[in-house]
Amino acid sequence: MGKKGNFNSKIGVILAAAGSAVGLGNIWKFPYMVGENGGSAFLLIYLLCCLAIGLPIMIAEFSIGKRAGVGIEGAFRTLSGNSRWQWLSALGFIASLLLLSFYPVVTGWCILHVFRLPDNTLTQIIFGGLSLLVTCVISWYGVQNGLERMSKILMPLFIVLLLLLIGKSLMLSGSNLGVQFLFDTDFSKINSSVILNAMGQSFFSLSVGMGVLLTFGSYMPKSQSIISTSVQVVTLDTLISILSGLAIFPAVFALGFNPAEGPQLVFDILPKVFGLMSFGEVWTTLFFTLLSLAAITSLLSMLEVSVTYVSDKTQLSRKKSILLLFVVLFSSMCLCVFFPYLFDAYDNMVSQYLLPIGGLAITIFVGWFIPKKDTMDEMKNHSRIQSDWFYEIFFLLIRYIIPLAIVMIFLNGLGVFERL
Ligand code: PHE
Repeated sequence: MGKKGNFNSKIGVILAAAGSAVGLGNIWKFPYMVGENGGSAFLLIYLLCCLAIGLPIMIAEFSIGKRAGVGIEGAFRTLSGNSRWQWLSALGFIASLLLLSFYPVVTGWCILHVFRLPDNTLTQIIFGGLSLLVTCVISWYGVQNGLERMSKILMPLFIVLLLLLIGKSLMLSGSNLGVQFLFDTDFSKINSSVILNAMGQSFFSLSVGMGVLLTFGSYMPKSQSIISTSVQVVTLDTLISILSGLAIFPAVFALGFNPAEGPQLVFDILPKVFGLMSFGEVWTTLFFTLLSLAAITSLLSMLEVSVTYVSDKTQLSRKKSILLLFVVLFSSMCLCVFFPYLFDAYDNMVSQYLLPIGGLAITIFVGWFIPKKDTMDEMKNHSRIQSDWFYEIFFLLIRYIIPLAIVMIFLNGLGVFERL
């Protein structure tokens, strides 16, 4: 994505942003988070976070990038006229390094399922490393655009497979318990950690708070509407997560699995459900192949943040930066395989803290440090929504409600309110 030329069409940016958002977050992380955090209670808070926090921050990120016309390193300087916001690009860089250390491991698990290979330390390193390598090679040759264009066909195919899974899953006896688990909201299950996890998951799944979307915003043609792009990406991403939940939980309950079993949940359940269909093995292979590709488009967007940062900071060429990053990331990925607690720590650190802190800073920047009129003009540009009240609500959210909500959710997660 280095050259702007790759992005001279509106659909290019939408595909890149959707490719970044839709990934393991929807199919792997969302279901196990729902399972560990009391089902419907988590889903409700998650949806609220996507709509009231994730969507406005996505709009804000796009607007910064589009106005500045440069990526995270230069955007804050260009728009604020000083370098006081530089730490934010370092934060995005650290988040991208941590993400790129554990996300390829899960991508590796998907590839293992494509070939039905055993899951051990060696195979995890080989296939995790392979995911990282493929990502770096695509970025090296600058052909990520080609993969993203393929997703125009692959994404609908993926949705069809999910619908097929849902059909099968719902037909199993006892599946209604899974549907209830997902949609029958039990408010008593809402607690501080459910809220913190749901907020983290919304940032993770929408790829906000790290500068990925800001970078894509800088590639947007002038005539592209930020609002409609954001609404499309959020809708697609949320739809896919819900479909994934509907495919998994009815089967979890019908087949007697534990919804709170953790990160292996989808890998245990989905092959079983496919196994109940005719040509089960073909479906399994197809599904995990598509999921691996979706994971790679997400990996590409993370790598873009690291590569831009390293090449801007060190004056190394893009290719040398990719090489350096590959060595560092591969080593750090191996550590995640050897020490599972590192894997969990990186995952939690990024979703629960780094991305929300990045998002918080972005709202403060757009809400308080950029003239309101400038952002408003940028948002109104080519938007079907022209009525002022919509924009007033946006600013109310960005200036007061979201920053306050994020801080409260943090404090609540730390147990501060319980001690009062
Ligand atoms: N949104 C991606 C997913 O759901 C993960 C991601 C997070 C990508 C942050 C880029 C930045 O799989």
